[in-house]
Amino acid sequence: MVSRGCQCAATAGILAKSLTILRYNMLNSQANRYLLMNANLRSPTDPLVNPHQFDDAEIAAVYKAIALRRDIRHFRPGSVPEAQLTRLLAAAHQGPSVGFMQPWRFIRITDPALRTAIHALVEAERCCTAEALGQREDEFMRLKVEGVLECAELLVAALMEGRERYVFGRRTLPEMDLASVACAIQNLWLAARAEGLGLGWVSLFDPEALATLLAMPPGAWPVAVLCLGPAERFYEKPMLELEGWAERQPLHTLVAENSWPV
Ligand SMILES: Cc1cc2nc3c(=O)[nH]c(=O)nc-3n(C[C@H](O)[C@H](O)[C@H](O)COP(=O)(O)O)c2cc1C
Repeated sequence: MVSRGCQCAATAGILAKSLTILRYNMLNSQANRYLLMNANLRSPTDPLVNPHQFDDAEIAAVYKAIALRRDIRHFRPGSVPEAQLTRLLAAAHQGPSVGFMQPWRFIRITDPALRTAIHALVEAERCCTAEALGQREDEFMRLKVEGVLECAELLVAALMEGRERYVFGRRTLPEMDLASVACAIQNLWLAARAEGLGLGWVSLFDPEALATLLAMPPGAWPVAVLCLGPAERFYEKPMLELEGWAERQPLHTLVAENSWPV
């Protein structure tokens, strides 16, 4: 027999959970539109306003860049002015890094022969990946997974050599150097989107072969081939979602309180 008090508590618990799911669902499915269209999150005249927050238009712009960033594989001819490229790389370099390690290195590929060789590595790995996928091989082969030959600028992001000397924040989690490079790339990605440029992250390559091709010192390790430049279009949703490869998972299934999400 469950007491009335317990029933109430249980109902309240279910209600709270439903509300949480509703809230996350709304944020998840409508996050982009919701945050874009409701840019007036808080009026600057609001007495509760946080003095550190950006103004409404700036907040909306940050969320807009996050919402409209896409992994781009369709590029159109054009170039990236030097000053713009420098600005984007500077944005990457402002990324957070474990112990302020700044483990990222960026190599700009301007030699057409090198670009062709990188494309060959990607193509070889694309075929191996398709084979490894088994049942989804054909479906995968129909996807466009890179724009190495078409993009205006090709960059290779890599981890620096000698990383073992850096222990701060990495003693138990050495992979935090990789996480730091990813943060830098995300900065670049968002800044590029804000400036109207597409960026595609390609990880389909044999890292050892790419390290050799680019004469990286022992211990350095390529993380990403980045295709940057004017985009043919910015997909409305992740291209893999549009192509039916995968779907975005509801946020509430990925977030939990005090326990693992179920
Ligand atoms: C670490 C990493 C590696 C990725 N590698 C590839 C890749 O090799 N080829 C590709 O087409 N997309 C690649 N992507 C892009 C993802 O497919 C893409 O981020 C995802 O489908 C969601 O789409 P969106 O970025 O447009 O939101 C990569 C993304 C990340 C973060």
